[in-house]
Amino acid sequence: MNYKQHIASKIATLLTGFEAQEIAALMEYPSDPEKGDLSLPCFRLSKPLRKSPQLIADELKFALQDEEIDYSESVAGYLNIFLKKERFAKTLVSEILTTGDRYGSQEIGQGSTVVIDFSSPNIAKPFHVAHLRSTVIGNALYQIHAFLGYKCVGINHLGDWGTQFGRLIVAYQLWGNEEAVTKGAIDELLHLYVKFHEEAEQDPTLEDQARAWFTKMEQGDESALTLWRWFVEISIAEFQKIYKLLGVQFDAFTGESFYNDKMEPIIEELKSKQLLEEDEGAWLVRLDDYGMAPALMLKKDGSSLYHTRDLTAAMYRAETYDFAKAIYVTDYAQNLHFQQWFKVVELMGYEWADKLEHVAFGRVSIEGASLSTRKGNVIKLEDLLQQAIQKTLEIIEARNPDLVDKKQAAEQVGVGAVIFNDLSSNRIKDIDFSWDSALNFEGETGPYVQYTYARTCSVWSKALATYGPLNLANEHDLEWTHLASTEAIEVLKQLYLFIERVEQAMLKLEPSVIARYLIDLAQAFNRFYHACYILLEEKQIREARLALVSCVQTTLRNGLKLIGLQAPDEI
Ligand code: ARG
Repeated sequence: MNYKQHIASKIATLLTGFEAQEIAALMEYPSDPEKGDLSLPCFRLSKPLRKSPQLIADELKFALQDEEIDYSESVAGYLNIFLKKERFAKTLVSEILTTGDRYGSQEIGQGSTVVIDFSSPNIAKPFHVAHLRSTVIGNALYQIHAFLGYKCVGINHLGDWGTQFGRLIVAYQLWGNEEAVTKGAIDELLHLYVKFHEEAEQDPTLEDQARAWFTKMEQGDESALTLWRWFVEISIAEFQKIYKLLGVQFDAFTGESFYNDKMEPIIEELKSKQLLEEDEGAWLVRLDDYGMAPALMLKKDGSSLYHTRDLTAAMYRAETYDFAKAIYVTDYAQNLHFQQWFKVVELMGYEWADKLEHVAFGRVSIEGASLSTRKGNVIKLEDLLQQAIQKTLEIIEARNPDLVDKKQAAEQVGVGAVIFNDLSSNRIKDIDFSWDSALNFEGETGPYVQYTYARTCSVWSKALATYGPLNLANEHDLEWTHLASTEAIEVLKQLYLFIERVEQAMLKLEPSVIARYLIDLAQAFNRFYHACYILLEEKQIREARLALVSCVQTTLRNGLKLIGLQAPDEI
């Protein structure tokens, strides 16, 4: 039941000239329960209705009657609406119990397709924390859209082409060997890459050799391609370890090289649409009219660029998937890149240009330190995750020595802590990863939410052990008055907000909305848990409260899943 919409349409019938939707958009959920469960600020209605906000609220207070509403108050231009709490509890709890793992979902997408380009690390380089953030944000957006009825296509646009592979081949031939690369995998490739840069400072001819090898690759030279394929394989195998730990999957691993044979027609099209201009042998699209630097499409030597590949990939995706939205998740350093080629698509006259969305996010530092690949002093992501698991294991061993499968719990919570940390603030904000705050079981963290979830499970398993199975399906037996305590009502209100929050997260492409929501719900639940007995109460109260616990459990689990976290039964 959508109370906002339901009451907004009632109000709309009482006011001339307003649609229910407009009223709903104005309505708020006051954080202070004294100000009602829902509130309508009447200020915006004042001008069109030619009445003071106070008078509008006064009149509505008397006119508004509804079976869901207990009473209303008119205070300082606000209409504060108080719902019938028992009815609210009953409707909501029944809804959550019957919808279960679909609670919070809606058929908004109706099967239309959303393409999500995320993670997209670069071959032969270690997985960077920025790629981690792209991976977790992209995966959350994938889950959220799928939950809302979209068909999602997750694409890993691997950085698997470019001059750097020429460098790597040169380095491999000069200083590498098969055994070391097989054994050391990306570490060894990175080592070679770093060595190349050090040596190239002394010997500039190395760069020429690298370019020559890349040209060979572009011309399809088998010896060059065999090496390249090997580097790609080694890298993907290593990325897969991280994806496995994170529980992330892709529908396609079509990297930049996938578009090698698809760019020429696009270049031709740009030419025929008179968008391409020659400039000292290079080819570019001028964007001066839009206040942007030109988008370079072909280098002097005829080779393609990042722009060329993104443009070609977008054409391919538009044709292949006929998307309703195409989302690109990268850090904000790439803002201009996306603005430029999105503009090129528009200039080419494609109506789907406005379906392209760059989901930008802020930088990540670890314990205050930034990272760089050139110098090779990167913190490897796999190490970071393993460290998170190890540290969590120590915490769990101290907190709950009797837990049977500590390792599994540590993996779920340790990885969850890292993911949650990336998602807990607005994506555009720069964030710092600190062990103490990410792993704080009492802070606004993944472990806190997971721990609260485990608490709901333990309440239930104790209930089962003490009183035997309880069939909640028959909600008529429940006594709803027992959910009318302040703390229980706060939990119910949070539960109710889930549907709206999921939709907001989708509309704003902002998984942090769900992460923060989970904190609010977990905190409300813990206040309830500390203030109210559950198992020690007599049957009717106990069962009503257990129903509430079950709703919290379902909603936390659904929410955690949407942002890519596991929900462990016991921690
Ligand atoms: N490989 C790129 C990088 O690491 C990210 C690619 C993002 N996706 C895209 N279609 N441009 O910076």
